[in-house]
Amino acid sequence: MNVANKTIVITGVSSGIGAETARCLRAHGARVIGVDRNEPSITLEGFVKADLSEQAAIDAAFAQLPERFDALCNVAGVPGTAPVDLVARVNYLGLRHLCGRALERLPEGGAIVNIASILGAQWPERLAQHKALAEAASFEAGLAFLARHPVPQETCYQYFKEALIVWTVTQSQRWFLERGVRMNCVSPGPVFTPILGDFVQMLGEQRVQQDAHRMKRPALADEVAPVVAFLCAQESRWVSGVNLPVDGGLASTYL
Ligand SMILES: NC(=O)c1ccc[n+]([C@@H]2O[C@H](COP(=O)([O-])OP(=O)(O)OC[C@H]3O[C@@H](n4cnc5c(N)ncnc54)[C@H](O)[C@@H]3O)[C@@H](O)[C@H]2O)c1
Repeated sequence: MNVANKTIVITGVSSGIGAETARCLRAHGARVIGVDRNEPSITLEGFVKADLSEQAAIDAAFAQLPERFDALCNVAGVPGTAPVDLVARVNYLGLRHLCGRALERLPEGGAIVNIASILGAQWPERLAQHKALAEAASFEAGLAFLARHPVPQETCYQYFKEALIVWTVTQSQRWFLERGVRMNCVSPGPVFTPILGDFVQMLGEQRVQQDAHRMKRPALADEVAPVVAFLCAQESRWVSGVNLPVDGGLASTYL
């Protein structure tokens, strides 16, 4: 995996999948600049503390990032036990805003990887809604759209992961053609990280039991991280606009 000497920005770097992605990329010779609301507990080449739910805070954090970097991994996320407004801001609107800003600094051949979820797999059922939201061009326009089209708390996590997949796939080709920047999603199934318990609470025991029979076990974060790293690497230079499940085959059982 050729990422040596690349500078890679990772959000959500202070826990779970983000921390493992940082470890993996550094082990392959990349320089990692982390962004998170919490301090990291691993060695990084740089760190910017920021709350990615606020546009102004994202812009302030962006100002502290290197003038040029090679890839952006958007790993930060909150579970559906958080208030719906926060889920919308962190998992979708803020992420999109950061991608738009990053485009200014990513070179031809740059990459963006967005962490969605297996829980976004039902995006085809709401494609028209997600495309309409994707057309809201800014963070503020997205908030205004969501005020007109409220999302229920119970399904907000699924909704914004679906929306993220649709936005990533539909937006990617324009950026690839115009800027040579690739953008892809990785959709993990359940992963042993601090927020796994929130997912159990969010989905309910019945759904968790149903899924438990369809898979070997939840993933370890270091089983997801190398796939994210690969999508930043030179070897994936012709992969763009895909949503790649990393779920031990769980999504395949939904057909
Ligand atoms: N764990 C799972 O089972 C699972 C499954 C599918 C998808 N995901 C997704 O993977 C991503 C990473 O999750 P994880 O499991 O590593 O969880 P985690 O809680 O271990 O890590 C999430 C990180 O995001 C950061 N973060 C959250 N809100 C933030 C904010 N407002 N500003 C800045 N940083 C913020 C947290 O501080 C934390 O370091 C998330 O997008 C999550 O939705 C997780």
